[in-house]
Amino acid sequence: MKFVVGNWKMNGSREILREMIRQIDGLRPENRVVLCVPFTLLGEKSTNIAFGAQDVSSHERGAYTGEVSATMLSEAGAKYVIVGHSERRMYHDETNDIVREKAMRALESGITPIICVGETMDEKRAGKTIDVITSMVRESLPTNVRDDIIIAYEPRWAIGAGITPTADEIAGAHRVIADTLSYMGLDGTPILYGASVNAANVGDIVAIRNVDGVLVGGASLKPEEFIPIIQSVK
Ligand code: PGA
Repeated sequence: MKFVVGNWKMNGSREILREMIRQIDGLRPENRVVLCVPFTLLGEKSTNIAFGAQDVSSHERGAYTGEVSATMLSEAGAKYVIVGHSERRMYHDETNDIVREKAMRALESGITPIICVGETMDEKRAGKTIDVITSMVRESLPTNVRDDIIIAYEPRWAIGAGITPTADEIAGAHRVIADTLSYMGLDGTPILYGASVNAANVGDIVAIRNVDGVLVGGASLKPEEFIPIIQSVK
């Protein structure tokens, strides 16, 4: 079983979500379909979709105006949460330490964190891809975890850009992540690929070794684009 995870970012509405659920609930997906929606859209029911959020507070509770805790997400029906997405790292200065704290809060509430790692274009050009993703994996993961985490490799330079890395680049990055996880005693942790995934390229991407599914941004917003992706992942 592979994962097809949609990340709606700050898009969508309840009406659009209900239509997406109606159409996906009419399918028989062979894979785990997850939709990470804005906080306000959590709470819908679906037979075929598990829901997730896109961020969680690193604190358990208290005077943190505007933040949403992992227990609140759980109560709202979230089973997954994306943490450390490059847009959070970039626009909200999230460090590996913060990402790790957030992932810990998620696990404490029975929510599976989808921890994002990936290099920038400058890091790639400087030949630092392997070093960057290795240290991101090592530093962003909670200690003492045994299971129930997911890693998403998202090369930052390819997100929303309509360009995808070559199959060799994806295979290389996923192998480094798999080796790092193995070194940490976390063999078998799913590793998703994300950045400019669409119905035309998803089949080739999930055929790459160590790719256990995809994290889809823009192409997850409309049923006519997302459903062919779900159906192409074998
Ligand atoms: P994209 O976004 O599919 O639009 O490139 C992926 C992501 O940011 O998770």
